[in-house]
Amino acid sequence: MAGVAFKSVTKVYGKDVKAVDNLNLDIRDQEFMVLVGPSGCGKTTALRMIAGLEEATAGDIMIGEVRVNDVPPKDRDIAMVFQNYALYPHMNVYDNIAFGLRLRELKGFVWQISHMAEAKRVKEDIDKRVKEVARMLDIEKYLHRKPKELSGGQRQRVALARAIVRKPKVFLMDEPLSNLDAKLRVQTRAELIRLHRQLGITTVYVTHDQVEAMTMGQRMAIMRDGVLQQCDEPELVYQYPANKFVAGFIGSPPMNFIDAVIQDGHVVTADFRLPVPAGNPVANGKKVTLGIRPEDIFDANLTMNFAKTPENTVMVKIDVLEPLGPEYVAYIAIGKTNLVATIDNETKVKENQTAEFCVNIDRIHIFDAETEQAIR
Ligand SMILES: Nc1ncnc2c1ncn2[C@@H]1O[C@H](COP(=O)(O)OP(=O)(O)OP(=O)(O)O)[C@@H](O)[C@H]1O
Ligand SMILES: [Mg+2]
Repeated sequence: MAGVAFKSVTKVYGKDVKAVDNLNLDIRDQEFMVLVGPSGCGKTTALRMIAGLEEATAGDIMIGEVRVNDVPPKDRDIAMVFQNYALYPHMNVYDNIAFGLRLRELKGFVWQISHMAEAKRVKEDIDKRVKEVARMLDIEKYLHRKPKELSGGQRQRVALARAIVRKPKVFLMDEPLSNLDAKLRVQTRAELIRLHRQLGITTVYVTHDQVEAMTMGQRMAIMRDGVLQQCDEPELVYQYPANKFVAGFIGSPPMNFIDAVIQDGHVVTADFRLPVPAGNPVANGKKVTLGIRPEDIFDANLTMNFAKTPENTVMVKIDVLEPLGPEYVAYIAIGKTNLVATIDNETKVKENQTAEFCVNIDRIHIFDAETEQAIR
């Protein structure tokens, strides 16, 4: 087993498409790392460079202690699961899983009579491993079926089984769940996490879905236009986003952003003001962007885990309430400023009504208006 590292890695396609820009990222041995970011930010390119399917334009790619830039893909001991997993349609599930192993381990000596005993032993070992993996992924029942006789989710598990059975040093997964329906995706997500715990194989998982990144990653690396924005544990990224982009990308509904200026220890917007959190070093007179997550805005008439004070209370007009079951997504306005809030479904407020809401001011975010970097 091994960690993976990008050391100042850049990938330029053609003359000037910089898909990955000076990436420095250490993925620890046995870690489950998620690469996340919007379409075109360079996730697949980064993954394909680990696999050796793309060559880095500059920098070093390490697997364990070895610089692998010049190591051919087949010698890197990685297994990759793609979004469009291609199973061999004419083979049954068993043979699909066993194929790569046979290719690797039986090649060479199977036809030589003197090695028949050895070949038999290898075959038995492959049989054991195929069945073990099939059991793990709950596809034992389907080993004799052809891919076309399986559901999408079952096919996906066969593709995973085929990757896992090789016990590689590193797993690379590129949006492997995106073809599944919502329910199956949640289920397979949990299965993958369980598998990772069981096998402890270093995994790099690519997704554009921030929920997947938050729930699956031990750490997550957020990319934008080929540039790494932040890499940390999901909870820390959520609490302390490094910049406005990360703040808006992680969390749903997304964080509210409001233009503001710092005056006398307050973040002052066109329509309301809130005290700057204690210890925040932001300078007086500075132009900033105030960030408030929807879940940090509360109906003042419900229980809150902080005290209502004149400083944290605002009068809002409720424009629209969208019921989500346990909560409402409330579209509210403070003067001319429109905000989104998630409100517990115990709320008594109604659309078009005015009400007192509170902001958890310990959790507001302040970004430099110019650089968009968080100030804290
Ligand atoms: N073979 C290629 N030739 C030229 N440009 C490419 C090539 N492959 C990717 N690109 C470009 O490189 C950038 C990064 O692409 P990449 O596929 O890594 O993005 P991604 O983050 O995986 O996006 P998605 O979420 O849509 O899969 C994009 O601007 C893309 O157009
Ligand atoms: Mg991609």
